[in-house]
Amino acid sequence: MARCFVTRRLPGQALERLAAEHEVDVWEGALPPAAAELRERAQAAEGLLCMLSDRVDAELLDACPDLRAVANYAVGLDNVDLGEARRRGIAVGNTPGVLTETTADLAFALMLAAARSLGDAAAAVRAGDWRTWEPAGWLGYDVHGATLGIVGPGDIGMAVARRAEGFGMRVLLHGREPRPGRVPLEALLAEADFLSLHCPLTEETRHLIDAAALRAMKPTAILVNTARGEIVDSEALRRALEEGWIAGAGLDVTEPEPLPPEHPLLGAPNLTVLPHVGSASHATREAMAAIAVDNLLAALAGKPMPHAAE
Ligand code: DGY
Repeated sequence: MARCFVTRRLPGQALERLAAEHEVDVWEGALPPAAAELRERAQAAEGLLCMLSDRVDAELLDACPDLRAVANYAVGLDNVDLGEARRRGIAVGNTPGVLTETTADLAFALMLAAARSLGDAAAAVRAGDWRTWEPAGWLGYDVHGATLGIVGPGDIGMAVARRAEGFGMRVLLHGREPRPGRVPLEALLAEADFLSLHCPLTEETRHLIDAAALRAMKPTAILVNTARGEIVDSEALRRALEEGWIAGAGLDVTEPEPLPPEHPLLGAPNLTVLPHVGSASHATREAMAAIAVDNLLAALAGKPMPHAAE
């Protein structure tokens, strides 16, 4: 029986399977543990099941000398210092696959919402501003038939591309490796009516979408980010929206996260922001919990994790 620390209660029954085999301590706070709280509660743990909001860095790993396995409840692993974990022989796993379609659904929803200002239009109805049918009111952009640029043609990016086919869109792909059928980022920025981000956050992709990239987009283009907030330079995006370099943006992830209500970006026009809910369907979050628990159970039993970090 190993000691496990779980940094939030998870949907579904998966934690019961973990508790059937191991001693499980679950953080019950409404907000994630602060770094010092995490160090204190996890210090005796052999297994850690953590969220994307927990930073698993050298400082935390130093504080947890018995740690053997980290199961991240996310596909993205940018919150985990993989090099430091590897150096200490700690197994790390994530939850790929099960959230692909759910996240692609959300990316498409954001694209439609941003193109047609759904958030602002719905808010106007509630505010009593729907006075009549307006021939030139609430004009947006067509999604059908438009050109979609996908940065990061991995599982989620390609699931978005499949949805785009149904909308008769022309799809352009850009990935880190130049391959047949892919285009350079410059071409994507210049041609896309919608630019959807699906690459992981790495040193290479941090602020990939900066002021120069935003200026290279069409003034009618819409940016959608369901990947990681730091891929987009927030301040550059604020200027791009305020000064009309692009027409709008739909963000499920932000820099910083959560975005404080007084953050200058929220004052920018034509912006839809969601609270990082890409994978938030009942079925998907339960499936993610099952995988995270499977990863932890395997590693604690001395076996390879079914979904080990690559
Ligand atoms: C992930 O898994 O990385 C998403 O951002 C949350 O589901």
